[in-house]
Amino acid sequence: MSMMSAIDATTAAAHALRFRPLSKHIGCAVEGIDLRDEVPPAAAKAIYRAWLDHAVLLFRDQDLTQEDLIRVTGIFGEFAPLGRPKHTLPSGFSKLLPNIMLISNIRENGQTIGALPDGEMMFHHDTIHRDEPHKATLLYSVEIPTHGGDTLFASGTAAYDALEPAMKRKLDGRRAVNFYVYNSVKRDDKQAVDATSQAVHPAVRTHEETGRKALYVNRLMSVRIEGMEEAESEALLNALFDHSERAEFVYTHVWRKGDLIVWDNRCSSHARTDFPSDQRRLLLRTTVKGTCRPY
Ligand SMILES: [Fe+2]
Repeated sequence: MSMMSAIDATTAAAHALRFRPLSKHIGCAVEGIDLRDEVPPAAAKAIYRAWLDHAVLLFRDQDLTQEDLIRVTGIFGEFAPLGRPKHTLPSGFSKLLPNIMLISNIRENGQTIGALPDGEMMFHHDTIHRDEPHKATLLYSVEIPTHGGDTLFASGTAAYDALEPAMKRKLDGRRAVNFYVYNSVKRDDKQAVDATSQAVHPAVRTHEETGRKALYVNRLMSVRIEGMEEAESEALLNALFDHSERAEFVYTHVWRKGDLIVWDNRCSSHARTDFPSDQRRLLLRTTVKGTCRPY
C-alpha cells in the first residue's frame, strides 16, 4: 500500500466513527468500527479522547478473538499484572491468553472456572486497595443470562462536581483507607473483617490526564477516613456513597453478547446486579496498569 492510500484509509476509519452518549454524565457508545480490524492511529486517538470525556465506552456487536481483545486493550495502555485464580477452560475454549481473566459463574466438575462468580456486587473501583490501582478495565461478553447481571457505572466526576462547596472543603486533603477482603463482594460490617490487602488514597482524586476531580471512595472497599473519629467517618462515608450512587450519575448497562466495555477506573466506580444462578454468564476481562499513584 502506498503512503497516500494508507493515510486515506486512516482518515476514513476515523471519520466512520460515531460517538453516542449513553447518559447525561457517563458512558458513550462507539459505532462504525469493527474491532477485529487493526484500529488506525487517528481512530485510536479519537476513541481514547472519547474515553477520557465519558469514562466508559461501549462497543456493541463485536465478535472478538482473545488476540483481538489483547490488541484493543493496547489502545488504553500497558497490561496490568494479573493475579488471576486458577482457571478451567469453559467449553468451546482451547486456550486462555495470559493477560485475560474469566469472569464467570460457570462450574466444571463442581468448581467455578473463573473469578467473581455469583450475584450482586456493591459499587467499587477495581484494585483501589493497591498503591497503584489499575487505570482501566475491559470486559467483553461471551455468554449472558436472560436477565440480571447488569453493570452500573457511576461518574465520580459528576458526583464531585455536584457536592456542596462546604462538603468539597471538608474533603479537601482527606484520605480514605480502602480494603480488599478475599472473595468478599458484599460486606455489612467492614470493621469486623481483616483486610487481606489495603491502601490509603485521597478521597477526591485528581485525574492525571483530564485534571478533573472525582470522588474516590466506594461502598464496597472504603472503610474509613483517615484521622477522623469513627462515627464521623462512618457518617461522612455513607453520605458520600449515597450521593455518588444517585441515579443521575449512573449509567446502567444491560449486557448483550458481543459487547465490549472499557471503563476509566480513576474517575468511575461500578456495581453489578444479581442474576439467576442457574444461567451461564461468561465475560473476558483485561486490565490496564495505572501510570501513577493517585496522589
Ligand atoms: Fe470491578
